Amino acid sequence: MDIMEEPSVSVLEFEKILNFATKGIKVFNIIKTSLNIGLFNILEEEHSCSELSKRFSIDHDVIYYILEALVKLELIEKNNGNYKNKEISNIYLNSNSYFQRKTIIESLNQPLSYWNDLENILYSKEIKYDENFFEFIIKAMAEDAVSGELQETLNIVKKYDEFKDSKTLLDIGGGHGLYAIGFKKLNPDLKAFVFDFPNVLNETKKFCDKYDSDIVLIPGNFYDDDLKGSYDVIFSSYNPGGKNAKIAEKIYESLNMNGLFINKQYFPTKTELNLDDILNNLEWNFTNFNMSNKGKIRYTFKNDLSYESYLKNLEDLGFEILDIFPINHHNASFGTTAEDKIIIAKKVR
Ligand SMILES: C[S@@+](CC[C@H](N)C(=O)[O-])C[C@H]1O[C@@H](n2cnc3c(N)ncnc32)[C@H](O)[C@@H]1O
Repeated sequence: MDIMEEPSVSVLEFEKILNFATKGIKVFNIIKTSLNIGLFNILEEEHSCSELSKRFSIDHDVIYYILEALVKLELIEKNNGNYKNKEISNIYLNSNSYFQRKTIIESLNQPLSYWNDLENILYSKEIKYDENFFEFIIKAMAEDAVSGELQETLNIVKKYDEFKDSKTLLDIGGGHGLYAIGFKKLNPDLKAFVFDFPNVLNETKKFCDKYDSDIVLIPGNFYDDDLKGSYDVIFSSYNPGGKNAKIAEKIYESLNMNGLFINKQYFPTKTELNLDDILNNLEWNFTNFNMSNKGKIRYTFKNDLSYESYLKNLEDLGFEILDIFPINHHNASFGTTAEDKIIIAKKVR
């Protein structure tokens, strides 16, 4: 070996990749831990590092660097040696805020233990996580929804006369129920129903209580059970059956003539995947979802139709496609912004 020989590719190029990888983990843990210890609640008011060190019984130098990192991340600000939340933290990281995202951060943290165990996961046949995860994840989805997607969806739907005139609405796979709760607020005469797994509906009930809403909860599995009624509007958002021909047929059967089927759904159409897409697809394969027939690509399930085939299938069933809107919100617990669409279809025959 020639002691003077240097590598043909600069080590900096390689270090850049590793640094990008490890920095994210450190930053995420600083934010998560600061949130969990209640730092962002305390920093509604200005505090010095010494006060915070005493209050949390954390070594002065350690909390100093946590605070300085949060300043660099522009989550808090420093004035004359005192630290205080920036508005972004008061909104999203303070547990007193309506828009706080604690469950989302928990949901981002959960799969990290699988990522840390990737080597075992590669060889293990064990189920990683399954449908029981819905009970938890819908709470994160509720936090996501209220910071923009819920309002955007309601604003789209409220313009349709068919919605204004509707008396009954079913939110299939409604989860937290915020869409049904919102539709009922826009149209108080509406009788709104949420269909979901029984264990998930226990969580839905808590959201109904929080928003003082009297929506009706229907327990069941939409692959096996009847949708229990005929409805003027059927709404579906990120429902695992939202690309499935059998579920579309079930919806058609349960919809009144001239009624609307509104389907918010992710349809993968990209041919060139970026790193985020690839990581999301890989993480999706840590899940099992036996009851829902999970597919190989994120948010896809066996027997899913492609976007074009799904639309054609709706038309063949007797729907007219009134409109299709792109709706590209960041969906934190499911990865990065997806190519989501809201399909508004009317039963015409
Ligand atoms: C990704 S979450 C979407 C929740 C909510 N609609 C939203 O957009 O925020 C999917 C929902 O569908 C429900 N779900 C999944 N498979 C189901 C099935 N086979 N029968 C009934 N509900 C199901 C889940 O429990 C969960 O509430």
